[in-house]
Amino acid sequence: MPEDKPVYLVLSALPYANGVKHIGNLVGSLLPADVYARFLRLQGADVIYVCGTDEHGTTIEVAALKAGVPVQAFADKYHAKQKEIYGKWGLSFDYFGRTSSGENHATTQEIFKAIYDKGYVIEKEMQTPYCLFDKRFLPDRYIEGTCPHCGFEGARGDQCEKCGKVLDPIDLKKPHCNVCGKSEIEFRKTKHLFLQLQKLSGQLKTWITEQEQWPQNARNFALQWIAQGLHERCITRDLSWGVKVPMPGYEDKVFYVWFDAPIGYVSFTKEWARTKGDSALWEHYWKNRDCKIVNVLGKDNLAFHTVIWPSMLMASGYADLPSQVKSLEFLNLEGKKFSTSRNWGINSDEALEWFPADYWRYYLCSILPEQGDADFSLHELMQKSNKDLADAVGNLVHRCLSFTHMNFEGKVPAPGELQPADNDFWRAVKKQVASSEESFYAYRWQEALREAMQIAHESNKYFNDGEPWKKVKEGEEGKRKAATTVFMTLQAVRSLAVVLQPFIPSSSQKIFDYLKLGSIEGSSWNSAAEQKLPAGHEIAPMAEIKPLFTKVDPAQLAKVKAILEARLKPDALGKPPAKA
Ligand code: 2FM
Ligand code: ZN
Repeated sequence: MPEDKPVYLVLSALPYANGVKHIGNLVGSLLPADVYARFLRLQGADVIYVCGTDEHGTTIEVAALKAGVPVQAFADKYHAKQKEIYGKWGLSFDYFGRTSSGENHATTQEIFKAIYDKGYVIEKEMQTPYCLFDKRFLPDRYIEGTCPHCGFEGARGDQCEKCGKVLDPIDLKKPHCNVCGKSEIEFRKTKHLFLQLQKLSGQLKTWITEQEQWPQNARNFALQWIAQGLHERCITRDLSWGVKVPMPGYEDKVFYVWFDAPIGYVSFTKEWARTKGDSALWEHYWKNRDCKIVNVLGKDNLAFHTVIWPSMLMASGYADLPSQVKSLEFLNLEGKKFSTSRNWGINSDEALEWFPADYWRYYLCSILPEQGDADFSLHELMQKSNKDLADAVGNLVHRCLSFTHMNFEGKVPAPGELQPADNDFWRAVKKQVASSEESFYAYRWQEALREAMQIAHESNKYFNDGEPWKKVKEGEEGKRKAATTVFMTLQAVRSLAVVLQPFIPSSSQKIFDYLKLGSIEGSSWNSAAEQKLPAGHEIAPMAEIKPLFTKVDPAQLAKVKAILEARLKPDALGKPPAKA
């Protein structure tokens, strides 16, 4: 690989293999990470986008238990299923692994040993919840109760879903067993291993303070937590499904899922490197000061990505720390929080049965929850698909290309002399390409989309103002002017396809197909600021140029809405669902 290329490792939070994820999960990490990775590829960066399923832990175990399926089979099923669905969403992973892989087990044990050898692990006895009825320990999700911080009644033993605080089971108020539902719980002493976060407090604080490029929410969260005082955290569990602890006396225990999950980022890069026939290649991303490691995740994962995972990296010295922790806020659906327990959400597979992936990708990116929570509304999805995609992009492409067929034999016409309006237009296109790029690098991806879309609006205006349909009827001079308008608009259509590619990749590829330009992945972002279509270039035959988008109609929307409303259950507290 040439030395001068910027190097990036893009990582999206690893979805639990506990089912099919809803679109809230996609918008919180997978989709924005994909958009950024695609942008970086167009930039010509040396970038890989790595993800995979998070397969250990009680989230999976409890889900498998409830489904009556052995946990391995359960993880196999949902790994395969998620991988297939993400393919349909156009998520362009270079590698999509599994934390249950042999590599992740080995790397987890290796990193643990490094942390242990450097003196950051201690063994302590601790009080662990034990269900007298089931005769088993109840780590993490096996126990639920009321959050001591926010009062949420469905808080799990390891974290409160509502306020995001990391918990210990002993903190829970009114705990009950998630296997039998009973409260016949006692706390028994067992020995466990603890990561001494407090020893890293100063180092962490200095490092986080320096990370000015992090979003405010990520940085504040981490600094506040450190200010409150870090404590040692238990990294083992009384379970059998997971990564074995390589220590005598720990034969019946495994590492806590959040210990081996982020290590998956490293393991998957190693597995990817092996597919490239160069097993040392992972170090090019993980042990390279010039590589930017970009983590993309939902705000509920901030604690682990801003403090715990970095502290594991610092303590072990195994690999580099992340450069960016791009955290997304939550997505609400029609004014209500996504909730698996209340069945309120849109699953990533059913979504694609209703509308094509690019419609979702476009709409979700247009409301990307970067500054605060965002509200998903089906009505707005319809409006934006129709106005932005069908009208602004689809019509522009169709009008301009069919005009090229009707008046210029399906070839890019040679332009006449450029007038100020033509030059102004191209300046505007270039400006939008540059602003979109700037927003991308500033980690403002919703804005990057808006800037890119502006090219469609400018182009429609330019084409309309040029009135080529009138001009072609006004003799040689008129025809030359029409040719200029069409020439310039076709260039802009190409540019638009490039800058929208990170967001709506399959539609952008269609535009490239219509323009007979081959694979859009072979083009570059910079080319969007240039006039790349030579006069005389032949476009696809008219019969192949189909409308890019069809409009979403209100009846279709009403059907989807009815499906969602019909399955909404009362919430976990037994209250009827609040009206949106
Ligand atoms: O919250 C979650 O969905 C976790 N499975 C995210 C893990 S990200 C990583 F660090 F592995
Ligand atoms: Zn029980």
